[in-house]
Amino acid sequence: MNAAKKEAAEQMENTDLVIEVLDARLPEASCNPLVDQLRKFRQRPSLKILNKVDLADPVATAAWKAFYEQQEGVTAYPMTTKKPSDVARITDICQSLAPHRGVPTKPLRIMIMGIPNVGKSTLMNALLKKRVAKVGDEPAVTKVQQKLYLGKHIVLVDTPGMLWPKIAMASDGLMLAASHAVGTNALIETEVAEFLGQFMLERYPHLLTTRYGFQTEGLDAVDVIEQVAQRRGFRVRGGEFDYEKAAHVLLQDYRTGALGRISLETPESRAAALAKHAAE
Ligand code: G4P
Repeated sequence: MNAAKKEAAEQMENTDLVIEVLDARLPEASCNPLVDQLRKFRQRPSLKILNKVDLADPVATAAWKAFYEQQEGVTAYPMTTKKPSDVARITDICQSLAPHRGVPTKPLRIMIMGIPNVGKSTLMNALLKKRVAKVGDEPAVTKVQQKLYLGKHIVLVDTPGMLWPKIAMASDGLMLAASHAVGTNALIETEVAEFLGQFMLERYPHLLTTRYGFQTEGLDAVDVIEQVAQRRGFRVRGGEFDYEKAAHVLLQDYRTGALGRISLETPESRAAALAKHAAE
């Protein structure tokens, strides 16, 4: 990690613009403070891509865009790699953020950073319109650094797999595990599903009703998973409800968007969590 940090710091010197890919559903939990530290030190502008907006709550995404754009040197761009038109806009945005670069003598050098599983490889594949890196849902896959030409005078320097999330709060760990940015071997899947169940009860109870057909009044997180098991008919031998399978399905339904468009944090909830953490 130290070697990777040193490499990133050196790379920053030869970079004109930093793209940080975040998960729009949990932008702060999925950001690595190291990126901002390095780019501020070198006074490089930042494009924060709020990726996977197709899975996120649009109201929360709008709030996050406003939140980031209050920060100096930051432009926020909510998008999804699933939409070619969203991807196509990126080069123009980059060019507008570094107008002095992108000419034959001064190519625009872009560094793409982000924690595992936010969609960096998918984004690069889409930007380059060909498969340049492995796309997969295994967060732990570490990839070698690569340098690629996005346009004639635009160079992409990618450092995927290098940055690990900085898990400052337990709730961040749970959000990252729910979103598969950290493997579920790091946390027990049922614990993550219970976190998600509780969150859904508090913020999006109607989506549980829509997806599984049960009413949520008076339920707790364990009840939610039991209800999923009951509604889906998940049973283990002997007739008991299959709690683990239901927990897995709840998480999968969140990850794929089958449960609806859900954001795990908003600027307000983040501020409240930070204040609570500071007081502990
Ligand atoms: P990484 O390089 O940052 O580690 O992430 P990677 O591109 O490997 O993407 C991780 C997962 O996120 C992949 O899913 C990818 O398809 C998905 N993904 C990337 N961008 C978006 C997006 O804008 N919206 C949605 N919904 N998903 C996105 P996967 O589980 O491997 O499945 P598959 O989709 O490749 O089958």
